[in-house]
Amino acid sequence: MFQGKDVILVTGASSGIGRATALLCNRAGATVIASGRNTAALQTLGDICAAPDRLHAEPYDLCADLNNLPVWIQDLRRRYGKLRGMAFCAGQTWNLPMSQYSPETANQAFAICCHAPLMAARGFCDRRNNTGQGAALVFIAAAAALDPNPAQGVYGAAKAALVAGARCLSKEVAGRGIRVNCISPGLVQTPMMEETVRQLGREFLEQEAPLYPLGFGNAEDVAHLAAFLLSDAARWISGQNVPLTGGR
Ligand SMILES: NC(=O)c1ccc[n+]([C@@H]2O[C@H](COP(=O)([O-])OP(=O)(O)OC[C@H]3O[C@@H](n4cnc5c(N)ncnc54)[C@H](OP(=O)(O)O)[C@@H]3O)[C@@H](O)[C@H]2O)c1
Repeated sequence: MFQGKDVILVTGASSGIGRATALLCNRAGATVIASGRNTAALQTLGDICAAPDRLHAEPYDLCADLNNLPVWIQDLRRRYGKLRGMAFCAGQTWNLPMSQYSPETANQAFAICCHAPLMAARGFCDRRNNTGQGAALVFIAAAAALDPNPAQGVYGAAKAALVAGARCLSKEVAGRGIRVNCISPGLVQTPMMEETVRQLGREFLEQEAPLYPLGFGNAEDVAHLAAFLLSDAARWISGQNVPLTGGR
């Protein structure tokens, strides 16, 4: 699917969907820059991936200085070469009713769910930092961007903003052969889903389970679509937000 010269940045690689995407892209032949905050978790990737010589752990807090993200991407390019792809998987969820909506909470959600991915994309799309024709970006948005459940208003609004920004970006960079797509998963069994259950209770899962004819997803289900969208097999797909919801 990829070659060693294909450098792919995966954010959120320390857990869940990002971790599965980093491992899959590495197994599929790419050189993977694996980013997250949890240094120990990133280092374990090197022990279990198919090709440790093509996996580079890069601990980084994406929200520490949002304005610096293009500079961070430029620094990665200097050290690893021009980027062929980015799977932006880092994220956090918020579960609170609209009666508790506040600019402070929304700002936190927008920082990691919208500003960070779009600022990283700004760095990626700088002509000096990507490989041009055939380069691709994939953002993990969420089904909540299209149809938020109760208590998903803040999270859904931030992810919807990401989807809009990504679609606009896809039009702006299409002329240079760069593709931009989103994936909007339903419930995927990762530490984030465990956190949602902790916040909303097990009744939440009991309500949701019958809505998923194919069951809840796992991280690899999302990773396979992300790797496909990054690859040349998806060369004619851009500007899309692909729902991935197990038949929901
Ligand atoms: N799981 C679901 O049901 C589901 C459904 C729809 C969409 N999504 C989306 O899918 C993506 C991946 O979620 P997941 O389920 O894999 O969650 P997860 O297992 O909790 O992983 C989240 C990842 O994001 C990273 N991260 C969070 N804040 C960060 C920051 N400020 N700087 C750098 N890294 C940061 C975490 O890094 P550290 O752990 O190292 O801090 C971790 O690697 C998210 O965007 C999420 O919104 C998930």
